[in-house]
This record gives sequence, C-alpha cells and structure tokens, in this order.
Amino acid sequence: MQLSDLTMLNFVPVALALVGSVSAATIKASPYAGSATADVFPPTGTAANPSLFPPESVVGFPGVTATGSEPELATATIYPFNQQQAGSFPLVFPEPHGEDKSSTFNIKNYWGNLSPWRSLSSADYDLPNASPLVPEGCDVTQIQLLYRHGARYPTTGAAPANFAQKLINATRLGNLSFSGELTWLASWKYELGAELLTPFGRSQNFLLGVEHRQLYGHLLNNFTEAGTIPVFRTQSQDRMVKTAENFAAGFFGVPEYLNEVNIEIIVESPGVNNSGAPYEVCNNSNIATRGSIGSSVASKFAVNAFNSTLARLNAQTTGGLKFTPTDAIGMLQLCSYETVALGYSKFCELFTQQDFLNYEYYYDLSFYYNNGPGSPVAAAQGKAYLQEFLARFTQEYPSPFSALNETFDNSSTYFPLNQSIYADATHEVVVLDTLTAFNLTALFAGPPLSPTGDQSQNSFSASKLVPFATHFTAQVLSCPAYQPTKQMRFIVNDAVVPLHGSYPGCPADENGLCSFDTVVDVLKKRMAEIDYDYDCFGNYTAKAGVDYNGRAPK
Ligand SMILES: *[C@@H]1O[C@H](CO)[C@@H](O)[C@H](O)[C@H]1NC(C)=O
Ligand SMILES: *[C@@H]1O[C@H](CO)[C@@H](O)[C@H](O)[C@H]1NC(C)=O
Ligand SMILES: *[C@@H]1O[C@H](CO)[C@@H](O)[C@H](O)[C@H]1NC(C)=O
Ligand SMILES: *[C@@H]1O[C@H](CO)[C@@H](O)[C@H](O)[C@H]1NC(C)=O
Ligand SMILES: *[C@@H]1O[C@H](CO)[C@@H](O)[C@H](O)[C@H]1NC(C)=O
Ligand SMILES: *[C@@H]1O[C@H](CO)[C@@H](O)[C@H](O)[C@H]1NC(C)=O
Ligand SMILES: *[C@@H]1O[C@H](CO)[C@@H](O)[C@H](O)[C@H]1NC(C)=O
Ligand SMILES: *[C@@H]1O[C@H](CO)[C@@H](O)[C@H](O)[C@H]1NC(C)=O
Ligand SMILES: *[C@@H]1O[C@H](CO)[C@@H](O)[C@H](O)[C@H]1NC(C)=O
Ligand SMILES: *[C@@H]1O[C@H](CO)[C@@H](O)[C@H](O)[C@H]1NC(C)=O
Ligand SMILES: *[C@@H]1O[C@H](CO)[C@@H](O)[C@H](O)[C@H]1NC(C)=O
Repeated sequence: MQLSDLTMLNFVPVALALVGSVSAATIKASPYAGSATADVFPPTGTAANPSLFPPESVVGFPGVTATGSEPELATATIYPFNQQQAGSFPLVFPEPHGEDKSSTFNIKNYWGNLSPWRSLSSADYDLPNASPLVPEGCDVTQIQLLYRHGARYPTTGAAPANFAQKLINATRLGNLSFSGELTWLASWKYELGAELLTPFGRSQNFLLGVEHRQLYGHLLNNFTEAGTIPVFRTQSQDRMVKTAENFAAGFFGVPEYLNEVNIEIIVESPGVNNSGAPYEVCNNSNIATRGSIGSSVASKFAVNAFNSTLARLNAQTTGGLKFTPTDAIGMLQLCSYETVALGYSKFCELFTQQDFLNYEYYYDLSFYYNNGPGSPVAAAQGKAYLQEFLARFTQEYPSPFSALNETFDNSSTYFPLNQSIYADATHEVVVLDTLTAFNLTALFAGPPLSPTGDQSQNSFSASKLVPFATHFTAQVLSCPAYQPTKQMRFIVNDAVVPLHGSYPGCPADENGLCSFDTVVDVLKKRMAEIDYDYDCFGNYTAKAGVDYNGRAPK
C-alpha cells in the first residue's frame, strides 16, 4: 500500500500540469493517495469547547418537561410505509437518458445494493392481505431486528476509483477531450471517500431508529420492569459503529442514547468469529468457484449489456480513451455513489432505462449467486445469525458454534437471551446469507437466474433485498385467537414473508403467522442440515445456473 501511495503522489501532479481538470480533491480522495487533509472537516486539532459552550446539564433551566407513553404504532391501523420516492430525501435523481419529465421510471430502484431501501409489498410474495402491522387481536412480545448500514462511500478498490484513475491516466497521455453529453467530464473530480457512511446514510439509520421506537417503543417496558437497559450489537468497522449509533440516536434520542443502551462492538477482521462478518472465517466465501461465482457471472453479463450506450459515449470522447464494459459499471456506480454521497450525479443522465435495468440485473446475478440460493456458502455464512436468533427464541446458548465467538456468544452480559428487543447491525451480504439460512425461499421464487441475461423470468431483485438500510425482522406474537397462541413471523423491508411453502407444518396464513414452536423446530432442522465445515472449507466446485438452497453440492 505504502508503495502505491508514493507512486500516485509522484504521478498525479503530472496529470495536473497537463490538464488542470484533475484537482487536489482528486489526489486527496484517491484511495491510493494517502491522507492529505486539504479540505477535510474538521481541521486537525479542533474540537468543540464545552468549557466555553457548556452543555445542558451545566447550563440548567431546561423548562418543564414530561415524557409520554411509549408508542406502539405496530399495533395501530396504519403503517408508515417508505415507498417509491420516499426515503430518499434529500437526494435528487435525473430522468434516464432519452426520457422526459413525464417518465415514472425511478432510477434509484435499480441500483442493487446501492439503492436506498424502500418498502416492499407482501403481495409481491403472494400474501396480498398481509401487513407488517401486528394482526388484530395479537400483541407483539419480542422482535429481533437485523439491519444494514445506510449509504456509504465505495469500498476500497471498487470500480469508481478505478474509473477515476483511468481518466487520470488518459489525461496524462494528452489529447483527451470530451464533447456533447460528456463535456462536463473534463472538469469532473473524484470526490468520494471510502467505506464511511455518508450524511444521507446516517439519516437512513437514524430514521430506522425513529421508526422502530414508534413501532415497538412499548417493548421497552420490559426493560423498565427488569431495571435494565438493552444491548444492541454491531461490528467494528467505522461505518458499522456509526450505523448502530445513529440507529440508537434515532431510537433513544440524542444524547440519551449514550446512557440508555449498551452498544456492543464485535471485531471484524480475518480469522475472527463474528456473526456479522462470517466471510472473515469462512474460507470458501472468497473462492472463485464457490463463494464468488456471482461476481464472475455478473461481470460476464456486463460485457455485452451496455453496447449501445458505450458506443454513444465513445463517440463523444477523443484522445485515446475508450470506455469499456467495466467503465460502464464504474460510471453507473458513480451515479449511485455520487448521489448518495453528494446528493446528485451527472453520471446518471448518461444511462438509459434499459441500462438501469441491466445494472440491476448485474447486481441480481451477483447477489443471487454470491449470497443467495445460488451460492454454495450462503447458508453456512448465515448460520451464525440463525444460531443466535434461535438462541434468543429458545433461551439456550448455541452449541456447537459455527463461526461464533465463545467470549461473546456464551455470555449473558454480551449475548443476553432475555430481551424483548434485539437490534444487530450488519452488512448486506450477511443479511442475504441469513435469509438464505432461514430458508425463506418465498423470497427466491422462480428459476435460478439466467447467467446469460434472459431476464424474462427473474423475480429476484437485489435492490429489494439488500439495499442500504435493508432490514429483516422476526416478530414473536401472542395471538389469543390462534391455537397455539404463541405465533411468529418474518418481515423483510415491510413485506411479510409467507412460510407455508418452506416451513413444513406451517399452514397457509394470510398474515404470514405460524406457531412459534413449529418455526423453531424448522429452524433447528435447518441449522442441523447446514454443514458449516464442508460448505466453508470443503473442496468442491459450484457453478452459476443452479439453485443450491445456499448449500454446497455434495
Ligand atoms: C494507470 O496507470 C498506472 C501506471 O501506468 C497503471 O499501473 C494503472 O493500472 C493504470 N490504472 C488504470 C485504471 O488504468
Ligand atoms: C436478563 O437477565 C439478566 C441476568 O439474569 C438480568 O440481570 C436482566 O435484568 C434480565 N433482563 C431482562 C430484560 O429481563
Ligand atoms: C473471540 O473474541 C475475543 C475477544 O474479542 C478475541 O480475542 C478472539 O480473538 C476471538 N476469537 C475468535 C476465534 O474469533
Ligand atoms: C482458512 O484460511 C486461513 C487463512 O488463510 C488458514 O489459516 C486456515 O487454516 C484455513 N482454514 C481451513 C480449515 O482450511
Ligand atoms: C454487444 O457487442 C458484442 C461484441 O460486439 C456482441 O457480441 C454482442 O452480441 C452485443 N450484445 C448486444 C446485447 O447487443
Ligand atoms: C495526440 O495528438 C497528436 C497530434 O494530433 C498525435 O500525434 C498523438 O498520437 C495523439 N496522442 C494520442 C494518445 O492520441
Ligand atoms: C470459531 O468458530 C469455529 C468454527 O465454528 C469454532 O470451531 C471455534 O471454536 C470458534 N472459536 C471461538 C473462540 O469461539
Ligand atoms: C458455554 O458455557 C457453558 C457453561 O459455562 C459451558 O458448559 C459450555 O461448554 C460453553 N459452550 C461453549 C461452546 O463454549
Ligand atoms: C422481557 O422479555 C423477554 C422476552 O420475551 C422475557 O424473556 C423476559 O422475561 C422479559 N422480562 C420481563 C421483566 O418481563
Ligand atoms: C426449505 O424450503 C424448501 C421449499 O422451498 C423445503 O422443501 C425444505 O424442506 C425446507 N427446509 C427445511 C429444513 O425445512
Ligand atoms: C480438490 O479437488 C480437485 C478435484 O477432485 C483436485 O484436483 C484438487 O487437488 C483438490 N484440491 C485440494 C486442495 O485438495
């Protein structure tokens, strides 16, 4: 790393001298360029000064206050859905290339895991009458929430930075010029950071916290009675910590969240067991013929998917720069990333509706085969959360462990089993691994995705299941009208997932409910059939085009 940092620093100023379009911001923001601090806020050495500007606790005189009852919107009659344009304020989106203002096509819904989350309809999963509201006559007694961080900058080494680098390289060769739709590219700068939550991303997790307080605030009475506060968990990457903090800030308020919840941060690093980052220990997760078959099939699909747009764009540049299919993905990702980081992106205007559909399909392929039913290691990686959820359902510590850490998962301090609300933050790949491990096959209806790009039968959509701030909820309910009265169901981004097709013993129920004991039995069987050691460490070959139910072929 150090070496390439130096190489870049020597190299970029040459480009600067030649064109003037590559600014200090490019150098600073390049993941290769180290940590220049030119316009990074806050300036080094600064901090708020509480002795000059004392806090509320010092100033006093807060006025009269009174807290109200805990909300329980989940048992109300109207649900706060996050639909279509909602949930993306204050981002702005242009129409795709070739469409006018009357177009209803919403580009942000075709960005795979880079889409902001939106509410899904239970009807899409064949439960037309189900609502995420607690069914009439039932009470919710426990929820387990698994949620993803909000919008972030690109991960290190992702396509956008490579695209920027390619432009810098081309600039260095000289003669580079842009015309027509691309004129602005001559003065464009790469301004994205890496890995961190963006301001919009923070708002997503904050709002998720607010929403869950409104829906389930009354479950806090459980802690009040016990005289204790909850443990919410996350991982150690900066964005994961900030995700849990923003969620807690929304849920408990600022600054109350500092005192009303214990946020547990579990290390994510190669070799460390952690349900939120199982790929760090599941060796096959990164093998081309096992855990990452989705990445290769998606790249292959992209080679031919953007022909006409690439031809159009290449006709508007001269000077030896030729945009490739990889650049099409790079620019589409810049569209997504610049929008969620900066609020708007000119790159979005370059692509047609069909391009966005193909971009989504690129992600559909990638996720279906890397972390969904088409992956031989998805269930194994989701098994850790499966074990943890089950432990909390049954109040029995997991044994034996699959990628769990004894220090954390066998301890009533770090892994309490008696909470009414659990909230775990994680990554999108892990959310999908978990849905696969839970055998929620209604989410994966239809034949395995066509590796060659026939989208006519595809109903799997990455932007629905793994967007920024995606969330999976298990509701435990008490329903006097049901027999037995202890019921349970699963909800993904507000859509109730039907269980009767994949949970033997669960009847067809219009609310997606099934007996708690039956669900627990099915999950135990599922846990037993997922062979963590073989799937993660075995020597086998998997291929795209097969629904493996997330497990390795034997
Ligand atoms: C840019 O040029 C450098 C030095 O020649 C090369 O190592 C690198 O691969 C190029 N990067 C891209 C994205 O073209
Ligand atoms: C859970 O159990 C622990 C240890 O027995 C106890 O201290 C705590 O108050 C309990 N929490 C709740 C919410 O019941
Ligand atoms: C388990 O957690 C402890 C405490 O953080 C850590 O020191 C240890 O390396 C972890 N072990 C594994 C195998 O994850
Ligand atoms: C998994 O990979 C790690 C790191 O390369 C290695 O130390 C470990 O032995 C591997 N585990 C198995 C079971 O192959
Ligand atoms: C795109 O171009 C390639 C190479 O010229 C060609 O083989 C392929 O059929 C084209 N794909 C489409 C969808 O037009
Ligand atoms: C730049 O333009 C000059 C003069 O037209 C030409 O000789 C040279 O080959 C061009 N360089 C590239 C990289 O296109
Ligand atoms: C980590 O997970 C492996 C695989 O399930 C297990 O064998 C090992 O005991 C775990 N280590 C710790 C410290 O929990
Ligand atoms: C968890 O703790 C119990 C009781 O201390 C112990 O019997 C059991 O072996 C532990 N489980 C694991 C997997 O370490
Ligand atoms: C809180 O809820 C959990 C899960 O339903 C339960 O195990 C625990 O006993 C409850 N604690 C109190 C004090 O009601
Ligand atoms: C998982 O779902 C499939 C149907 O999609 C079903 O055939 C299978 O029995 C289920 N597995 C378990 C462990 O229940
Ligand atoms: C894995 O299996 C293949 C095919 O049977 C074999 O050629 C290869 O040597 C094996 N690799 C390892 C590491 O055992």
